[in-house]
Amino acid sequence: MGVLAKLNVGVVGAAGRGASFRAAFEAHPRTRIHALCDIREDLLAGAAKRLGASEMYVDYAEMLERSDVDAVVIGTPMPFHAPQAIQALERDIHVLSEVTAAVSVEECQALVAAARRSQAIYMMAENYIYTKPNVLVRELVRRGLFGEVYYAEGEYIHELKELNEITPWRRRWQTGIDGITYGTHSLGPILQWLSACPGSSGDRVVRVCCAGSGHHYMDPRGDPYENQDSCVMLAKTARGALIVIRVDMLSERPHAMTNYSLQGTRGCYESARSAGERGKVWLADLCASKDVWLDLADPSDRPSGQSLEAEYLPEMWRHPPEAALRAGHGGGDYFQVLDFVRSIVDGTPCPIGIHEAMDMTLPGLISQASIAAAGVWMEVPDSRTW
Ligand SMILES: NC(=O)c1ccc[n+]([C@@H]2O[C@H](COP(=O)([O-])OP(=O)(O)OC[C@H]3O[C@@H](n4cnc5c(N)ncnc54)[C@H](O)[C@@H]3O)[C@@H](O)[C@H]2O)c1
Repeated sequence: MGVLAKLNVGVVGAAGRGASFRAAFEAHPRTRIHALCDIREDLLAGAAKRLGASEMYVDYAEMLERSDVDAVVIGTPMPFHAPQAIQALERDIHVLSEVTAAVSVEECQALVAAARRSQAIYMMAENYIYTKPNVLVRELVRRGLFGEVYYAEGEYIHELKELNEITPWRRRWQTGIDGITYGTHSLGPILQWLSACPGSSGDRVVRVCCAGSGHHYMDPRGDPYENQDSCVMLAKTARGALIVIRVDMLSERPHAMTNYSLQGTRGCYESARSAGERGKVWLADLCASKDVWLDLADPSDRPSGQSLEAEYLPEMWRHPPEAALRAGHGGGDYFQVLDFVRSIVDGTPCPIGIHEAMDMTLPGLISQASIAAAGVWMEVPDSRTW
């Protein structure tokens, strides 16, 4: 690729999740979506129009072989993520892979080995780390306003029994296995907060245990879901922090995919729990008393007249381009692409490279072994030692 050449991007799973990546790649002057692939041939032409791609493939290997793609976005169902990422990495094609990175520890090992051998960049598309509240909380932690952070909760509550029937892979890989099958949206931001603490050189989950709330729903065929309704994973980190992750994809109730809380020695955070609410913090250095919460975005409860957002929000979120505001998942779909492209084009360190992807993916996989063994604590491997 010449210095000023555009990066050609290929999107696989283009008729599903892959379709949401157009705005972000289009907004970047150095990229364009060039090719796409989906096994649903009948949906290809429509997807190509929506994504502005000029080449279409039903076979992924053929796209990698025949198309001049520099990078791929993997938006296929979960069991394809690792095999398709490995195929691209083997050709030194950069990878932005949907979550989770892999569906077994063995796949994780193969993926790490492929990333090590490859000249290309691997990034996992954990978009929830980029939402405005999650970015602001990370900045408040980084500035030391929470003191030492030592406890966090994350919940992904997304009832998808109907969606299971429309996308049957979910019935197999998300609700067809017990334990935490889709935990990176909850764990990802929390790991970033724990690692942002002043003096911390990073943190990762070293052991987990997992239990469930039982089986209260049947699928339309009358079979119980293998996944218990609410699965809860307890996780201990290398620095000794405790994390509680709840994933519930079955219980009847409104969605709540971005529930978080965080506790440090000098502050705590409670995220918004439903639409229309805003997150709030208590920070010893900024609050007049222990009973006063600060709204993340409301200036009225601050003597300076400036909201926490106005004072502490990192630059990326201060003047977000229109494309970021239009992109899905609270802007996350835009900012993750920006970081991916920067790491390819400018050599900026990739924020969710292969080991960060493993840090977010492996605890859930080990939780599945824990719940099968009556909830015993189990060690989580460190991919850096593989
Ligand atoms: N990060 C997020 O916020 C977010 C949101 C939604 C979905 N996802 C993830 O994105 C992935 C896709 O989810 P979805 O809801 O779009 O699923 P989906 O089933 O609606 O779409 C997947 C698409 O992939 C195609 N496909 C399946 N196997 C293929 C193969 N081998 N080669 C090429 N194409 C293939 C299907 O035909 C379909 O068009 C999942 O891993 C899901 O977890 C992430």
